[in-house]
Amino acid sequence: MTIDLGHHGDTEVAAGLIDLAVNVRHAPRPAWLAEPLLASLNDLAAYPDATAATAAVAGRHGRDPAEVLLTAGAAQAFVLLAQALRGARRPVVVHPQFTEPEAALRNAGHHVERVLLREEDGFRLDAALVPADADLVFVGNPTNPTSVLHPAAGIAALARPGRVLVVDEAFSDTTHREGVPGEPESLAGRRDLPGLVVLRSLTKTWGLAGLRIGYLLGPAQLLPRLAAAQPLWAVSTPALAAATACASPVAVAAEREIAARLAADRVHLVDRLRHVPKLTVAGDPASAFVAVRLPGADKIRLELRERGYAVRRGDTFPGLGPDWLRLAVRDTATTDAFVDVLTAVLKERP
Ligand SMILES: Cc1ncc(COP(=O)(O)O)c(C=O)c1O
Repeated sequence: MTIDLGHHGDTEVAAGLIDLAVNVRHAPRPAWLAEPLLASLNDLAAYPDATAATAAVAGRHGRDPAEVLLTAGAAQAFVLLAQALRGARRPVVVHPQFTEPEAALRNAGHHVERVLLREEDGFRLDAALVPADADLVFVGNPTNPTSVLHPAAGIAALARPGRVLVVDEAFSDTTHREGVPGEPESLAGRRDLPGLVVLRSLTKTWGLAGLRIGYLLGPAQLLPRLAAAQPLWAVSTPALAAATACASPVAVAAEREIAARLAADRVHLVDRLRHVPKLTVAGDPASAFVAVRLPGADKIRLELRERGYAVRRGDTFPGLGPDWLRLAVRDTATTDAFVDVLTAVLKERP
């Protein structure tokens, strides 16, 4: 079967369905974000100027502005990398993971090699599986869809001269570890690793998927090549206003609180799921979603839709298959109602 790499959770959502398919947080926008966003509409007659937002993002991560490139969502960063690094000889994508890196590479004409992490290993990164001469490597951390958070040291060990190592940290702001002040395994502040490119998204936690805002952090020598592949004025003035607001200390502190609450909601979801017969929760989930294996999941997903719930199919992720689903972590009331419906659906199956 050819896997549809272009399938995403948003196409599974429809009016009237409770959305457990898309990992964007649904919450009112705080004033520190809503106000500058609205105010930016007064400036729409001017072409966007990314200077201030780039400096703000650089400041947030302790980087130089020359090491920051703002993008129309992290999704655009995959395309820039794939286009600008057409000369890569051996691009490798570590799966299961978000499918856009591979899709962007293929669209740019690359021959892509897949490294498949295994369920038996808890989908943990096995650096030995990555070919030594791979000169362009994509890995997600935490990984969509498995929700596994790899140790930063294990990923850092993949960096080497002559290789561009792309770490998709679109969900890093959702991770939390008790007693650790920041994001527990982020490499965003690391400037010492050769060829390291870290991708970040502001669309998930801040509910800005429609605004399209993200960025990449990487070596100052590499970034002009990526910027050259970007359309002119790719990031709109409202998106730049959001980037500036979300880089502030207030925003970062709010992110940490949201991540801590999410961790509690995730524990609740995983605990409830562990009591569902025949269902296995993948790995050790650390992000805003969990992947589950459930025999017949492809049919169960359709039955859940009839009962009002949209969940993300798992079969379009290389390394998973028709018995997999991805579920967004929601508040405990939504989780309880969902697990009750799932349990009822399973009871009624032959
Ligand atoms: C792992 C991962 N990376 C990147 C993206 C792209 O995010 P953005 O909305 O910033 O383009 C997504 C979106 O679903 C994602 O799941």
